Amino acid sequence: MRLGEWTMQGIFISIEGPEGSGKTTLLNALVPKLQRISDREVLTTREPGGVRIAEEIRKIILDPAHTEMDAKTEALLFAASRRQHLVEKVLPALAAGKLVVADRYVDSSLAYQGNARKLGIDAVAQLNEFATDNLMPDLTLLLDLDVETGIERIMRGRKNEINRIDLESLATHQLVRHGFLKVLEKYPERIVKIDAVKPTEKLVEEALEIITSRLDNL
Ligand code: TYD
Repeated sequence: MRLGEWTMQGIFISIEGPEGSGKTTLLNALVPKLQRISDREVLTTREPGGVRIAEEIRKIILDPAHTEMDAKTEALLFAASRRQHLVEKVLPALAAGKLVVADRYVDSSLAYQGNARKLGIDAVAQLNEFATDNLMPDLTLLLDLDVETGIERIMRGRKNEINRIDLESLATHQLVRHGFLKVLEKYPERIVKIDAVKPTEKLVEEALEIITSRLDNL
């Protein structure tokens, strides 16, 4: 795999899924196990990943005062933040032969901005091809679960907050889930779907099985 002047020797895995899918729990349990079976140094990262410029861009996106933010502006800013994180953090790690595990990457933009914000998955994919020089993960694990269970999990995590979900957020969650499923159809050779409605241990076991069977140079 070649990207500009970088010769890639590392391995790049991304973990994707809607909120409440258990991405973070899986990652925390998975990474020490991966480190045990791989000779490579494992780097876990999530955008903006402590990269100064990416952090600044992310602040603009997530500022609740920015209610007027246009969907395309949002997609461009996510792509810009991604680019900076890629150049400063992911590429050097891959060039050094590390195993990089990313908590969200391009597919999140395809599902959230492309499908839920209705910019179109192909349009957002094109934007991200430009932003990443088309550097896509070697393997993506997509955690999929029904929207009701996802929302229930989010609510359980926020004990003192709202315990009522309005229709708008339910509809958005549906669009995000279906967005990810459309992305899976678009890239069936790269993405593997995991049913996320199972105990963490089983999830980790399945994720490890997929990783070891798909990637032979761990
Ligand atoms: P993040 O901070 O990664 O939270 P989590 O992974 O715990 O859900 O993401 C913040 C929000 O931003 C989340 O709702 C997903 C969304 N998001 C996008 O809309 N597009 C993107 O490209 C990414 C990376 C995230």
